[in-house]
Amino acid sequence: MKILVVGSGGREHAICWALAKSKRVTKIYCAPGNAGIAQIAQNVDIAVSHFDELIAFAKNVAIDLTICPMDDPLVAGIVDAFMSAGLLIFGPTKAAAEIEGSKVYSKDFMRRYNIPTAEYGAFDTFNAAMAYCATAKFPLVVKVDGLAAGKGVIICQNIESAEHALKDIFESKKFGVSGEQVIVEEYLDGAECSVLAFCDGKTIIPMPGAKDHKAAYDHDMGPNTGGMGVVVPNPYYKEDIAKECMERIFLPTVEGLRKDGREFVGVLFFGLMLTESGPKVLEYNCRPGDPETQALLPLLETDLVDVIMACLDRNLDNMEIVWKNNAICCVMLASGGYPGDYETGMPIWGMNDVGKDALIFHSGTKKDGDKFVTAGGRVLCVLVSAENLETARASAYDSVRKVSFQDMHFRKDIGDLGAIIPN
Ligand code: AMP
Ligand code: GLY
Repeated sequence: MKILVVGSGGREHAICWALAKSKRVTKIYCAPGNAGIAQIAQNVDIAVSHFDELIAFAKNVAIDLTICPMDDPLVAGIVDAFMSAGLLIFGPTKAAAEIEGSKVYSKDFMRRYNIPTAEYGAFDTFNAAMAYCATAKFPLVVKVDGLAAGKGVIICQNIESAEHALKDIFESKKFGVSGEQVIVEEYLDGAECSVLAFCDGKTIIPMPGAKDHKAAYDHDMGPNTGGMGVVVPNPYYKEDIAKECMERIFLPTVEGLRKDGREFVGVLFFGLMLTESGPKVLEYNCRPGDPETQALLPLLETDLVDVIMACLDRNLDNMEIVWKNNAICCVMLASGGYPGDYETGMPIWGMNDVGKDALIFHSGTKKDGDKFVTAGGRVLCVLVSAENLETARASAYDSVRKVSFQDMHFRKDIGDLGAIIPN
């Protein structure tokens, strides 16, 4: 099969890497890709938002299957566009992707189907949101309705910070149309867990639980990022909790989406808070997470193409998905200054010196002559899988120490159980 992957980050690199292992795949294209991806796939210089060009390319080279793991194109309807053109694509339709594209829809969805989540109100004016905050308990969380590149969630300790956040949204219109409505919700305490699940519209098969580390600095300090590292399995996501999630969250979600006429085919991502009163949904994403996907795919033993085709054939209930019984630790190497401003173009040293057990996925790199240089905030992920987390972690950091670029920044406590105690 010829496969086209849409995107350019570490998640897409990990997907191309898993596809390269498949017996069914003869050629991989990635649009637009990055310098790491170019080692195993052919990059195609088309932007992810240019659906017509992507479709024309897919027809021209007779692509058999397109995979889109990115939120923006999914929410904008890339799957509908490909399907209308008669092309096979893996991902949810625009209607199903609204589970991530609109927080108001997703919160109302959870309320209607009795899926555990934080208490909330939905508002479309500053005054109405402020009136709710005036009687609410702090801390509370303000979330813009639409996509906001991970910046649309503001944790407010007091009424002044809530007022500030709501002014940014409704008066300064900092988030544009994404901020036309807001959710104001209860702050949840607990351990966070990312669960990604394959879905064929009716059957859902969750992957092992992952622990993302979103804050920029050690001990969960500093601003939120796209993710500074992941470990799998998530040590807090025990078997009994996974069972409860299946019954109270995963199955009702897939069933609810079907009842809403928004059958979900793709990878559905549950951002969970494991609270004292049980697991609750913080958010849904309509696609596999990054860096979670980078940590999960090296553990997948079943051919990824077989799993995707089972989803597309609505045949997931006949599929057995096998995972290595290993732990994995994945450490993100970021540019100095990320998630704020940072410089790019720094030469990267030492990638060939990492341990034989280490994998490197590229998030933001390009080639300058024959050298790799930095080209993004998140630059590289170094991953090691081993029979337990402690070994995986020690070995991952041994390899991290071999790699360098100017102003390189990474967290030193990824997978350190002491540092990921519930908030
Ligand atoms: P999101 O972009 O919705 O994943 O939110 C970003 C991060 O904000 C989450 O990973 C949580 O750490 C935090 N967060 C979101 N909602 C809540 C909540 N209701 N209570 C506590 N933390 C939250
Ligand atoms: N790592 C979180 C996300 O992909 O949204």
